[in-house]
Amino acid sequence: MNILLLGSGGREHTLAWKLAQSPNLSKLYVAPGNAGTASIAENVAIAGDDFPALKEFALKNAIEMVVVGPEDPLVKGVHDFFLADEKLKNITVIGPEKLAATLEGSKEFAKAFMMRHNIPTAAYQSFTATTLEEGYQFLESLQPPYVLKADGLAAGKGVLILNELAEAKSQLREMLLDAKFGKASTTVVIEEFLDGIESSCFVLTDGTHYKILPQAKDYKRIGEGDTGLNTGGMGAVSPVPFADGEYLQKVEERIVKPTVAGLKKDNIPYQGFIFIGLIKIGDDPKVIEYNVRMGDPETEVVIPRLKNDLVSLFKAVGTGTLDTIDLEIDKRVAATVMTVSGGYPEAYEKGKEISGLEKVSDSLVFHAGTTLKDEAVLTNGGRVIAVTSFGKNISEALDNSYANVEKIDFEGKYYRKDLGFDL
Ligand code: AMP
Ligand code: GLY
Repeated sequence: MNILLLGSGGREHTLAWKLAQSPNLSKLYVAPGNAGTASIAENVAIAGDDFPALKEFALKNAIEMVVVGPEDPLVKGVHDFFLADEKLKNITVIGPEKLAATLEGSKEFAKAFMMRHNIPTAAYQSFTATTLEEGYQFLESLQPPYVLKADGLAAGKGVLILNELAEAKSQLREMLLDAKFGKASTTVVIEEFLDGIESSCFVLTDGTHYKILPQAKDYKRIGEGDTGLNTGGMGAVSPVPFADGEYLQKVEERIVKPTVAGLKKDNIPYQGFIFIGLIKIGDDPKVIEYNVRMGDPETEVVIPRLKNDLVSLFKAVGTGTLDTIDLEIDKRVAATVMTVSGGYPEAYEKGKEISGLEKVSDSLVFHAGTTLKDEAVLTNGGRVIAVTSFGKNISEALDNSYANVEKIDFEGKYYRKDLGFDL
């Protein structure tokens, strides 16, 4: 079949790499893709939210499946657009419809969903400009640190964790009255602070059945020892030593099952990945957040460990027959190290030539932010290249990746050298 994959990051290069191995694939297109996807698929210059252009392309190229990488097209309703169109409605779309995508698009919606279905998460209340005073009172009733979340999508910046009550109040005021995060902070969720260790759980569902993919942990802070600003993710490992056995059973019983059942009960159709951000407190899991897509860079370690044919898995999602498939997982550890542009996650330059890619051996190179210019591969984003390796344990996998990261060069290259330090 012909498949169109939407997105342009390391997650999409990894998905493209996996799809390209399938005997069920005829032709793979990536819109818009990057220099990495260009080497294994055909890039097409269409933005994920340009629905009319996607339609024209899909019809002209006999696309039978659309795989959506990032949340943006989902939150904007790309799946709904395909379903509503006579000529497109039989194309399988991997990624939920707009209503389900609200699990990521609105923290308030996600919290209410969890409450309704008894899914463990931090206690919370939400506030708007007209209930600012009540918001202050709620803050006064809590112990620091205070967690304030803009309800809507805020490019990963909408969560504030503050130690001082006065600061929490003034930030709440700025979010609600001064639109600190634009429309995203029209509603603010204030929640109980949870103290624990985080990991990422990925579930693939057809709306009725589900498969739990390998557990992963990403490293979000720019600096070593988990310090400094938040980034999209500086690296990841899979599996996660503390997220297995009895704990993983609790995750499945208390979180995954009620999530999939809750969606069904609420008449929220769901076809695609659910990314459950977990936090382990003592021996018990709670949900920090839902995303309606795979994580990045978690995809770069989860998908390489999956032995199944990804096209077959996605077809089963489309036909509601995921229960007929057993996952086969590589037992080895996978680790990925993200190289980023100097200055990221603040201002950085693009267009730096990347050298040494051909010297990499025994690792997988996934392009995150790159572009082709003539024959040269140039940096084209904050996160540039992820290097994934296998090993018999975390340090062996990381050592392999670090050795290869050393061979890749571009002006301003930075990466964290302490990944896995906490495991
Ligand atoms: P979110 O966008 O909801 O995933 O939040 C971003 C990050 O903020 C999470 O990955 C956590 O590290 C942190 N965080 C969010 N909610 C809480 C909470 N209730 N308690 C402690 N940390 C939190
Ligand atoms: N790595 C976290 C995310 O994809 O949101």
